[in-house]
Amino acid sequence: MPLAPVYLDHAATTPVRPEVLEAMLPFLGPAAFGNPSSAHRFGRTARAGLEEARRRVAAAVGAAPSQVVFTSGGTEADNLAVLGTALAVRAAGRPMHAAVGASEHKAVLAAAHVVARMGGTETILPVDANGIVDLDALDAALADAPAVVSVMWVNNEVGTIQPVEEIGRRCQTAGALFHTDAVQALGKLPVSMEAAGASLLTISGHKLGAPKGIGALIVRSGAAVEAMIHGGSQQAGLRPGTENVAGAVALGRAAELAAAEQATHAARLGALRDELAARIRRAIPDAMWLAEEGPRAPHVLSLAVPGADAEAMLMHLDLQGVAASGGSACTTGAAEPSHVLTAMGMPRELALCTVRFSMGRETTQADVDRAAEVVPAVAAKVRALAGVLGRA
Ligand SMILES: Cc1ncc(COP(=O)(O)O)c(C=O)c1O
Repeated sequence: MPLAPVYLDHAATTPVRPEVLEAMLPFLGPAAFGNPSSAHRFGRTARAGLEEARRRVAAAVGAAPSQVVFTSGGTEADNLAVLGTALAVRAAGRPMHAAVGASEHKAVLAAAHVVARMGGTETILPVDANGIVDLDALDAALADAPAVVSVMWVNNEVGTIQPVEEIGRRCQTAGALFHTDAVQALGKLPVSMEAAGASLLTISGHKLGAPKGIGALIVRSGAAVEAMIHGGSQQAGLRPGTENVAGAVALGRAAELAAAEQATHAARLGALRDELAARIRRAIPDAMWLAEEGPRAPHVLSLAVPGADAEAMLMHLDLQGVAASGGSACTTGAAEPSHVLTAMGMPRELALCTVRFSMGRETTQADVDRAAEVVPAVAAKVRALAGVLGRA
């Protein structure tokens, strides 16, 4: 019998958790399908589900329910944070300036580019070899009173944990809004907006066992953000449009579970990840674990195997039933090295030999055993092929 495939790409997306599916299903069926803005009983039932979801999301990140703005996912929330704050300062007659980390998700970087295209300024904060933002560069940017500073809590490609508390403190002292993308942090680390000193925080459902297409931006009171899309008065006009009630309910349940299980979940993932890293490195002594020296989240193992092209590795791994990814899912297929690895100072040829394995709730010891066997065999094959082709 063929072995079941091993999924080690949880940083890209996760399956919907049964508890989450159970919570959301009523809001797709006849009992609770109503429009939450309708005043009749159908609408009131949907509204109750939506508001309970808001409470759950808020509790998971230490915020107030009124601060939760449901979005179509992490990408929209990041855009709203960066562009929405820029639009708000422009409306107040001040210059738009967004300062963002060089290793941010493309959603943040691209939004900062738009700020610049609209006549504002973008500052890209460099990161060191472990992916940590340069705090002196942050201070220099803060001297220019940016509308927003955006630095992610946990990097999706290498797992680096940024010093968000320190960044938040410096932003507060300078009077700048601090946005953090916590998409890869929630459920892996304790996440508290208060502790991070963040005014804006992004989460995404599908990294947590909720479906794709739902996320949230948490906006603390006093943070001026302008809507990017316009329409009705839902969500105080900040994100109009009939709410994705079932999605929001799913996100609420997933966030609640993620926060409640965080400590045990992180310990389990960290042990599995460390074991996989150790076994692969015993078999491939020159494999490099990226961002190994910095503080890092427990679910990501980014490995560079010199001479083993990542595209070829991923294809052969997939043939052997192991699903992983190269850089972020969004850049997979592009021949360019990942911007994150480039920002960390990795030479292009090594960046193109980097594969990410990411663990999740469904990952088992058997998955790790299988990957520990398959990865070195595939790496040897890809290196041998490269050698043959190189000589040809
Ligand atoms: C750190 C980070 N931010 C934002 C996103 C985008 O989230 P979504 O897929 O919900 O738009 C992702 C997903 O790849 C991510 O890993």
